[in-house]
Amino acid sequence: MKGVVLAGGTGSRLYPLTKITNKHLLPVFDRPMIYYPIQSLVEAGINDIMIVTGGESAGDFLRLLGNGTQFGLKDLNYTYQEKAGGIAEALGLAEHFVGKDKVVVFLGDNIIEGSIREAVNGFQRQKSGAKILLKEVENPQSYGVPEITGDRIVRVEEKPRHPQSPFAVIGIYMYDSRVFDIIRTLPSSARGELEITDVNNAYIESGEMTYEILEGWWADAGESIEALLKANNLVAPQKGC
Ligand code: DAU
Repeated sequence: MKGVVLAGGTGSRLYPLTKITNKHLLPVFDRPMIYYPIQSLVEAGINDIMIVTGGESAGDFLRLLGNGTQFGLKDLNYTYQEKAGGIAEALGLAEHFVGKDKVVVFLGDNIIEGSIREAVNGFQRQKSGAKILLKEVENPQSYGVPEITGDRIVRVEEKPRHPQSPFAVIGIYMYDSRVFDIIRTLPSSARGELEITDVNNAYIESGEMTYEILEGWWADAGESIEALLKANNLVAPQKGC
């Protein structure tokens, strides 16, 4: 199983903090934001990791992370997204790295308290398709939101005005290698991006999507300044502060 951490985008919701640097290099308590998703992947047993980044601070990722020895890795892979064309576009750049393998995609601004090890093991056993993770939140309209009938997800809606459930689709996605064929068929959305929610809906339509509810807290640290502060305050007690 491969791991891909997405750390491109413009980070414009965190201006001016992100005017001269990449959002994922900002501190969350005692380390840069991107450390958390890498740690979560490594903890889940994934050692083959690619970082997708973009913008003018891309070189800083290499200076910060190098070969990933601080995470116990032998090496790290990098690729560059020319323009912020969406999460699905960023993932598409990792096709040659993932090959015919399965992949866990981790958004670089997502931080979790617990472990995804069990979910990853479950997906390893799943013959094909995809798996997403859900978390109940107070503001589902800020995220991808699943519509659930019985125990099945029938659709995911991106930042809906009228959410059909109290859950967010969190930024950890598991796919088989068919994901790259799906990405090639996607149209640009109204905001000019290739949307990960469209990828998830393609798997739902073909009946190949499973899901789990994440245990422990989840933070989308890049969503707003308030969310960044909240992420700091969730991490701090874990470090005894
Ligand atoms: O955090 C979970 C949410 O993430 C999901 O619930 C939504 O369905 C999903 O669309 C996404 O929403 P956001 O509005 O939070 O996405 P954002 O633009 O902040 O991008 C998320 C990460 O993906 C961010 O860490 C940077 C990376 N990214 C984003 C874009 C647009 C890229 O690497 N390249 C890109 O072009």
